[in-house]
Amino acid sequence: MFLRNAWYVAATKAEVADKLVARTIMNEPVVVFFNGRGEVCALEDRCCHRGAPLSLGCATETGIQCGYHGMMFERDGSCSHIPGQTKIPRNAKVKSYPVQQKGDYVWIWMGDPQAADAAGIADYPPDDPVAWPRANDMLHLRASYVMVLENLMDLSHLSYLHKSSIGSSESDSANASMDVSRTERGVKFLRVMRNADAPANWRKRYPTGQKVDRWSDFEYLAPSVIQQFSGGVNAGDYDKGVREGAHLVRTLHAITPETEKSCFYFFNKADGYARFEAPGTPRTWASTSDVFKEDAHMLEQQQLRLENFDASRLIDINTDVARVQMIRALKERIQKEQASKEERLSEPTIQQ
Ligand code: FES
Ligand SMILES: [Fe+2]
Repeated sequence: MFLRNAWYVAATKAEVADKLVARTIMNEPVVVFFNGRGEVCALEDRCCHRGAPLSLGCATETGIQCGYHGMMFERDGSCSHIPGQTKIPRNAKVKSYPVQQKGDYVWIWMGDPQAADAAGIADYPPDDPVAWPRANDMLHLRASYVMVLENLMDLSHLSYLHKSSIGSSESDSANASMDVSRTERGVKFLRVMRNADAPANWRKRYPTGQKVDRWSDFEYLAPSVIQQFSGGVNAGDYDKGVREGAHLVRTLHAITPETEKSCFYFFNKADGYARFEAPGTPRTWASTSDVFKEDAHMLEQQQLRLENFDASRLIDINTDVARVQMIRALKERIQKEQASKEERLSEPTIQQ
C-alpha cells in the first residue's frame, strides 16, 4: 500500500527539459513535461479518446496534444480542442496531478490535490554559501521502494555488500555507536565509527594505515526521502567537533514507487570535499554509482526471494533499530491516511 498524500520525485528537471517523460508512479501512467510557456505539467498518460499514451504526442503552448487523433488537453487535464468538432463533451478530460519544481527535480503529488502543500518538499541541495558540486542519477529497480529505504536505514550492510568500496571492517562496524530518534517527519540516526580503517574508496585521501573517525547522519522523511550527511576526519577529531576532513558528502535519496515491486531510485550527491577544488563533477561520483549498483543487484534478488513468501517469518536483529523505526513511521502515516479516507467515506450525505 502507498502513501498518496506526499511529494515524490517524478523526474529530474534535466530529463523533462527536452522531452515528454512517461513514467508509471504507484501503478498510474503519468506523463511529465513542460508546456510551451515553460510550466511544468503532469497528466494521466492515457488519452480519454482511445487510450493512447499522451507521451507519444507533443507539448503545446498550454498543454499537450495527443499523437493519435489530435485532441488537446490543458494543464488541469481538461480538453480544449477536438479536431473537426466544436462541442467538447463534459467527460473529455484526463487526470492531472499537482507538480512542483525544487532542487534538481520535478516533484509530484499523487493524492488529494487540495492537500498538496509545497512546504513539505525536502530541501536539497545543501544550504551552504559555497556551492557544493553535485551530480545525480536514477536507478530503475525491480524491487519495492520500501526495500531501498530499509537498505539505507541499516548501514551494517556496508561492511559486507560494499566491503571493497565504502565499507569499513566488520569489527569497526560492530563497534559503531548508533543513536536513533523519531522525529515529526520520520526517523533520524547518527552512526559513528571512531578510529576505524579508511574504506578502500577513501584510500587516495587517507593512506593505508591512517585511522579515521567516520559518521553517517541520516534523516528519513516519510514516506520516501532520506537526507544523508556523512564524512570522515582524522581519528580523534570527530569528538573535538571537526566536521570538515578529506571526506564530506550530502546525499538526497528519493525513492518513488512504480509498482508494489518496482521503483525509481533517484540519488543526488553533493561532494563537500571537492568544493575546495575547481568546480566540476564531484570526484567521488563514478564510485557512487558503482556502489549503488551493488545495492541494486542485492535488492532485486531479495525481492525475488520474498515473492510468495510470508515476510512475518523474517527476523529483526540489533542493527535493525533504525530500519524498524522507519517502517513504523511509514506504517503510521499510511494507516492515518487510510483512516481519514474511511472516515470521509462514512460521513452521512447531506439530504436537501
Ligand atoms: S486516442 Fe487520443 S485523440 Fe484519439
Ligand atoms: Fe548500500
